[in-house]
Amino acid sequence: MNKVDVLLGLQWGDEGKGKIVDVLTPEYDVVARFQGGPNAGHTIIFDGKKFVLHIIPSGIFNQDCINIIGNGVVIDAHILRNEIVGLQSKGVDASKNLYISKNAHLILPTHRMLDAVYEKSKGEQKIGSTLKGIGPTYTDKTARHGIRIGEALGADFQARYEKLKNNHFKIAESYDFNIDELVIDGKSFAEYEKAWFEGLSFLTKLKFVDCAYFINDAIDQGKRILAEGAQGTLLDIEFGSYPFVTSSNTTTAGVCSGLGIAPSKIGKVFGIAKAYCTRVGSGPFPTELFDDDGQMLRDKGHEYGSTTGRPRRCGWIDIPALKYSIMLNGVTDLIITKADVLSGFETIKAAYGYEVDGKNRTHFLSNECDNVIPKYQKFDGWSEDITTCKKRINLPEQLDKFLNHIEKEVNTPIVIVSTGPDRDEIIM
Ligand code: GDP
Ligand code: IMO
Ligand code: MG
Repeated sequence: MNKVDVLLGLQWGDEGKGKIVDVLTPEYDVVARFQGGPNAGHTIIFDGKKFVLHIIPSGIFNQDCINIIGNGVVIDAHILRNEIVGLQSKGVDASKNLYISKNAHLILPTHRMLDAVYEKSKGEQKIGSTLKGIGPTYTDKTARHGIRIGEALGADFQARYEKLKNNHFKIAESYDFNIDELVIDGKSFAEYEKAWFEGLSFLTKLKFVDCAYFINDAIDQGKRILAEGAQGTLLDIEFGSYPFVTSSNTTTAGVCSGLGIAPSKIGKVFGIAKAYCTRVGSGPFPTELFDDDGQMLRDKGHEYGSTTGRPRRCGWIDIPALKYSIMLNGVTDLIITKADVLSGFETIKAAYGYEVDGKNRTHFLSNECDNVIPKYQKFDGWSEDITTCKKRINLPEQLDKFLNHIEKEVNTPIVIVSTGPDRDEIIM
């Protein structure tokens, strides 16, 4: 039976999923996003051009590849329209090969307002959301009063929109939120709402599908399919560091519900991790560095968010976290990115466990923040620039040793090492 391969992040997002999906796309006929929404920012660089995708799958740059926005994704009409128009202005006709599930839920302007309301009310305990309306939209989906994009053309759409919007306003009022102070992407609420409706009318011209049938037909036709994750396993609503997580299933399980694929139809699972760790937003991060090494990782890795521009928190690779993510996803093939960023460090570290209140622990601690002391194994660094290296045997011996250590610890083969942001900077 033909199977669907999966590529997803094993850390807190931004592992380089966009780049690797783009690299793998020639091997696939279909690339499908199954969860998340415009909180994602997937960067792809080739021929001196840089693209950041938020909702559109990263297979879009291959003319022959069909790209699906699955039912598990949440869509902001204004952002998706801008994304399509932005690609068009750079010579990429995204609408040609793009298919959208009718059942994908709409992020309303008031969902974005509620994101801001909830974050403000949390004060110090805020999640550090991207404020794209993700949480409130999935909340309405689960509460069974969300609106699906396929319903946007229905006769009762406007009435349902107004009703939901008014309910959202009531919630905002109960938090003493002043809507006049609300700014969404530089616009007042009224301006944003206008742009959103323009976006929605633009989107209605695109191709809408029953995702489950569309994708299962593709499987039956022998099409090669790759499901592209957004965020990362440690931000999963079930298994991440709750409540400092996103609101969707970022794991392999999310592929089944987010596209309509049976678990028996899942093939390879590519798990992607940076050679170190980063996190944006709040929440536990056991190996976070606050010293010069942390700053050096941020500077060399250009660790600033693709969606929000926020500086990313940086730290050493966390092996128990990686094992946990590999276990949850059934990862068959490991991909390590940003190995080039480690060039120039005298010593590299990898956490093998933690000490908590005097006790040794080897399980990943998804919830504990306090008194967690990571225990590190140290590795000699290297000074060579590896960005042009094309074979693993040509990598510096010290890096090879580091990679061997990761493979052995997590008991999963590394099939790709990424050595720079460009499409060509890769060792397969
Ligand atoms: P995604 O959300 O997982 O797709 O990752 P992002 O695009 O948000 O963040 C990854 C960042 O690292 C982007 O700026 C990429 O261009 C860059 N990048 C990806 N792979 C590599 C790599 O191997 N080395 C370096 N130096 N940068 C990389
Ligand atoms: P990609 O796909 C990194 C983080 C936010 C915040 C938390 C909840 O580019 O890897 P949300 O907007 O979902 O309410 O935010 O999750 N977050 C991401 N961090 N990469 C992402 O996506 C992220 N999407 C959400 O910073 O901590
Ligand atoms: Mg990103």
